[in-house]
Amino acid sequence: MHAKEAKKKARKISDWIIEIRRELHRHPELMYEEFKTSELVRRELDKLGIPYESPIAKTGVLGTIGSGNGPCVALRADMDALPIHEETDVPFKSEIDGKMHACGHDCHTSMLLGAAKILKENEKDVNGTIKLLFQPAEEGGAGGKLMREEGVLDSPEVERIFGLHVWPLLPTGTIGSREGVFLAATSFLEMTVEGEGGHAAMPHLTRDPVVASAQIITNLQTIISRELDPLDSGVVSISTIHGGQVSNVIPPEVKLMGTIRSLTTEGLKILQNRVKTVAETIAQAHSCKAIVSYPGNDYPPTVNDSEMWNFAKGVGSEMLGESNTVDLEPVMGGEDFAYYTEKVKGCFVALGMRNEKIDAIYNVHHPLFKMDEEALHIGTALHTAFALQSLEELGA
Ligand code: NI
Repeated sequence: MHAKEAKKKARKISDWIIEIRRELHRHPELMYEEFKTSELVRRELDKLGIPYESPIAKTGVLGTIGSGNGPCVALRADMDALPIHEETDVPFKSEIDGKMHACGHDCHTSMLLGAAKILKENEKDVNGTIKLLFQPAEEGGAGGKLMREEGVLDSPEVERIFGLHVWPLLPTGTIGSREGVFLAATSFLEMTVEGEGGHAAMPHLTRDPVVASAQIITNLQTIISRELDPLDSGVVSISTIHGGQVSNVIPPEVKLMGTIRSLTTEGLKILQNRVKTVAETIAQAHSCKAIVSYPGNDYPPTVNDSEMWNFAKGVGSEMLGESNTVDLEPVMGGEDFAYYTEKVKGCFVALGMRNEKIDAIYNVHHPLFKMDEEALHIGTALHTAFALQSLEELGA
């Protein structure tokens, strides 16, 4: 199916996609708790007569269209929301306090369901197999890793994979990505600085973890500015500080959290080691002790195969025009789509959805994040064309 035809078909079901997206938006669920979301996906796949495996990776769903044999292409959507309280005025805003689809994963899920509908209706054109990956826990839970470990890339073996992410930096009607590293390797950081508390008027009788923490936070920044090659990219951000209750008591400990990013896994490891050493030795200089850990999953960098980005660019150019298909610089955000492209050729594509007229200008993870729903059918069309044109190429 040509890109333009896919767009036409997607445009026709735009209202249907929007309706599903709004239902998801009202009921955001956090990582590995996507029970209702998963139920909705299964409900729609049932209606469409698409077989699926579920649960996979706890709350995931793996749908299949086509012969069940190779060649095989996978399309992926993540389903989880964020612990953010929605502050938009949309009539379908989150009905759950403190939870919000602020990263657009509701859009990703509905766009993939849209593609499922079109692909199923045109199953005679599917020369091989298309796997639909509805994945949990992108926001730190490494759902992509679990999906991979539970075999979504095997039997039949996936030869190409595509993922889309709504992108508030690009206007509706455009897409962007790049060959090579697109998104960063990421790690969480937790630190406890232990000292000895006491009366704030008698600091000499304490070992002050607040002053030690202040020194640590400041000095961690010199790892980036003084140790990293100026032409390399890295981030060390301390994003939370908690310590103490009252003004006249020095607390016994301070807790810090943050994130570390690099464009390579090796670079991430180097930064992790340096952060630990700098924190520990500075704490020691203040007669305190720093305990540094990197909990959870370090995400690898998201690397696009150059051939796959060229292919996606070709589809995008045909569908949206060449000038609306742009090469982007790498971004220090992370994505667990990386776990798939570690094993399989693929491309992660940014879907433009910025629209000043309706206030769709806020970045993802912002309480005012708003989607331009006019972009949803474009995402559906891209998924559809990526899959069908890939199968044509792979089968030729
Ligand atoms: Ni996201």
